[in-house]
Amino acid sequence: MSLDIIIGAQWGDEGKGRIVDLLSAKADYCARFSGGDNAGHTVTVQDTILKLHLIPSGIVHPLTKVILGNGMVINPSMLLKEIETLITGDIEISSERLFISLAAHLITPWHCQLDQFQEKSRGKDRIGTTGKGIGPAYMDKAARIGLRCGDILKPELFREKVIEHASRTNRVLESVYGCPLIDLSASVELFIQDSLKLTPYIKDTGFLLREAIHNGKYVLAEGAQGTLLDIDHGTYPFVTSSCTSAAGALSGLGINIQGVNRIIGVTKVFQTRVGAGPFPTELFEDKAIRLRGTGENPWDEFGTTTGRPRRVGWFDGVLLKYAVDINGLTELVLTKMDILTGLPKIQICTAYKVDENIYDTQPHGLDATQMDKYQPIYEELEGWQDDLRDIRRWEDLPRETKKYIEKFETIAGIPVSIISVGPERNQVIIR
Ligand code: IMP
Repeated sequence: MSLDIIIGAQWGDEGKGRIVDLLSAKADYCARFSGGDNAGHTVTVQDTILKLHLIPSGIVHPLTKVILGNGMVINPSMLLKEIETLITGDIEISSERLFISLAAHLITPWHCQLDQFQEKSRGKDRIGTTGKGIGPAYMDKAARIGLRCGDILKPELFREKVIEHASRTNRVLESVYGCPLIDLSASVELFIQDSLKLTPYIKDTGFLLREAIHNGKYVLAEGAQGTLLDIDHGTYPFVTSSCTSAAGALSGLGINIQGVNRIIGVTKVFQTRVGAGPFPTELFEDKAIRLRGTGENPWDEFGTTTGRPRRVGWFDGVLLKYAVDINGLTELVLTKMDILTGLPKIQICTAYKVDENIYDTQPHGLDATQMDKYQPIYEELEGWQDDLRDIRRWEDLPRETKKYIEKFETIAGIPVSIISVGPERNQVIIR
C-alpha cells in the first residue's frame, strides 16, 4: 500500500508540477485534492510546454490515471479547455484515465463575478485573489448550497439547481455590490451544456482510490498552492479557501491515513509569494529583480495563472520548520537552485526578532496581524559562481552549494532528496 503526498512548503509556485511529473511516471494514480484553476503548473514534454490548471501533471504519462478529488472546486469551461489542449498535444483523455469526484464542487460564472466584486470591495485590505471564483465556490460548499459534480448526473434537477444558484448569486451581486446583472438565459444554458460534457468522467473517486491503495497500487497525491496559503494554517486572511496541507490530501480525496508513505515537501531555495499578506524576508528593487527575473524567460517569477510579478525574498527557514511540522514532511525537494548561481553571498533567515525576543520557530502561529513586526535574522552563506544546469550528481556540486543544501537539512531536520538545477525535465539531482 503506498500513498505519497506532494505538498508545497511555501506560498505556492514551488515547482511541484515538475516533481509530480517526475514521480508520477511510476504512479498508477495521480490525484489532486484541493483548489481549482487558481493553481497553475507548467510541464515540459520534449519541446512542448503545457500549462495545466486543474488536471494533475501525471496526465502526461500514458499509463498514469488522474483524479480530480472531492476537495476541489472545478470550473467546467476551464476544464474542457484544458482537456482540449491536452488532446491537441496528443495526450489521451478518456473516461478510463480521467476521473472527477462526484463530491467535487463546481465553480460557476457567478462565483467568478462575485470573487472579483468581493475583492474590489475589500479596498486596501484586498487579498489579491486570482479572481477565479475559488472563495465564493467554497463559501457555497460550506453553506451547503453548492453545486456538486454528482448533480450533473441528474440533468433535470441540475438545471433547476443552476437556475436557483444563478438567480440567488445575481441578487447578491446586485444588492450588495451594485453589479450589473449577468443575463441568465444565455449563461445558464452555456454553463449547463459545459457541465454535461463532463458526465463520462464523474465517478466515486474516493472508493476508486481506497481500492487502489488497498490493492497495492501507487498513488501520488498532488498538492496545489502551498502550506502557507492553507485556510486554517496559513497567513489568514491572506490565504486561499482550501486545505492545502498534507491533511487535506486525505479529506480531499476521501482516503484514510493507513496508506501514507512519504510526505514530500517542495520548496524553492528562495521565497516567493503572489497576492497580499505578510512576507518577513521580502526584497525590493534591484535585489528583487535579481531573483524574480524580468519576465523574458518562462521560468522567471511571474504567475502562471495571472501573469502577475511574484514578490520575492531570501529563504525563510522559520517558515520551513513550520511547514515540516504542520505537514509531517518526510523529505524535501529543492527547486530553482540554478537561479542563485552568481550571487556572492546568500542570506537565509533562521530566526525572527519580535520586540526584544528571538524566535527560531513561529511565535504566534501564522497570525498575519502579528507577522508584520517580525524582523528576520539572517545567516550569511558563501555563494557560488559555477553553472549548475548540467550537473546531475551530488558529488559534482560546488562545495558552497552543498553547504547551502545542508543548511536546509539542518533547519528542517529531514533529508533533501531531489534538487532541481534547471527548467528541463532531466535537470535534477537525485540523491
Ligand atoms: P484565491 O485562491 O484565488 O482565492 O487567492 C487567494 C490567495 O492565494 C491570493 O494571494 C493568491 O495569489 C494566492 N494563490 C492562489 N492560488 C495560488 C497558486 O497556485 N500559487 C500561488 N498563489 C496562489
